[in-house]
Amino acid sequence: MNQESISQSIAIVHPITLSHGRNAEVWDTDGKRYIDFVGGIGVLNLGHCNPAVVEAIQAQATRLTHYAFNAAPHGPYLALMEQLSAFVPVSYPLAGMLTNSGAEAAENALKVARGATGKRAIIAFDGGFHGRTLATLNLNGKVAPYKQRVGELPGPVYHLPYPSADTGVTCEQALKAMERLFSVELAVEDVAAFIFEPVQGEGGFLALDPAFAQALRRFCDEQGILIIIDEIQSGFGRTGQRFAFPRLGIEPDLLLLAKSIAGGMPLGAVVGRQALMSALPKGGLGGTYSGNPIACAAALASLAQMSDENLATWGERQEQAIVSRVARWQGRFAFIGRLTGVGAMRGIEFVNADGSPAPALLAKVMEAARAKGLLLMPSGKARHIIRLLAPLTIEAEVLEEGLDILEQCLAQLS
Ligand SMILES: Cc1ncc(COP(=O)(O)O)c(C=O)c1O
Repeated sequence: MNQESISQSIAIVHPITLSHGRNAEVWDTDGKRYIDFVGGIGVLNLGHCNPAVVEAIQAQATRLTHYAFNAAPHGPYLALMEQLSAFVPVSYPLAGMLTNSGAEAAENALKVARGATGKRAIIAFDGGFHGRTLATLNLNGKVAPYKQRVGELPGPVYHLPYPSADTGVTCEQALKAMERLFSVELAVEDVAAFIFEPVQGEGGFLALDPAFAQALRRFCDEQGILIIIDEIQSGFGRTGQRFAFPRLGIEPDLLLLAKSIAGGMPLGAVVGRQALMSALPKGGLGGTYSGNPIACAAALASLAQMSDENLATWGERQEQAIVSRVARWQGRFAFIGRLTGVGAMRGIEFVNADGSPAPALLAKVMEAARAKGLLLMPSGKARHIIRLLAPLTIEAEVLEEGLDILEQCLAQLS
């Protein structure tokens, strides 16, 4: 693989060159087949080259490939916003805008939160990830490599511990940290919004404590602070439901979407309460390519397949296969730690004998798995948790084959 013309600041997990894919399988340019447990990092919940998505892309490409929505609206954007309004399970009427990526959705949500509240400060969480643009970098709850060497970042942004049964950080500890923040660092009346992932993706597939989410919702309602929920990785069926936030028993004021929204086409969205989403002056939101008609057509074809029944069936099948397999591994391999996450959004932790994170072991497994035809992706602050992001549509036998390969690699380590 000749990489001379590629920035060396892009970290490549798998040094192969892909040629084509079908559902949960991809082939490289040497013709080697891989089972794909990465799914383009959570983009391919409906698989590679999903037939209905491909058909929609092809049909749209013959009708209208581009128009800047703010110059003149087009049908696919309007249709998608209408569909999304019905798909997002909140009790209030939604409005929103489309973007090209997840980070762009987060950027726009920050603008909306500031514009709507007239306040500046944002509170994010340890281990969270919201993108690689300058403002979203500051939201990330992890310094290396994201925030290194780029200097001052747009703020103010503060971070709190992320309470989760997966990390052992309790609701009480997080609430105490919040109390301290507001007594030592920051006036509560300066806070525009809290932002969090209901299940952290990059952070290691860690599920937020619902009791904390509910306490935070009550607090924000009292204080006039917004809640921005980032479902860019956890959304569109990854947990077995449309989104992960209903498990928390709260609703967001603004919701960030991207990744599996459009089956591989670049698309994101910010949706939320109508008054908030129209708080900025006309022209304050938009973008040349945001809501491209082909990407919208792909999203419409994706949503049409995401009935609650389909998502539950796919999610339960994948969850059961993973949970039963990992339970066996935990009994057999001392280096397998916790199974993190919820539904089909599961992470497998690698630990040393003293319980500390074991990223080197995970790296060995990932390399061995690739050689045997399975692509895996690390996550977690220490890069010691394998995040399983196989398409939800993966055939049962391909899922088992992938888990068999992983098991062989674990056995080689022990
Ligand atoms: C939860 C979450 N938010 C935001 C982003 C940024 O999305 P993008 O890479 O499309 O900018 C990601 C990407 O991994 C993510 O997982």
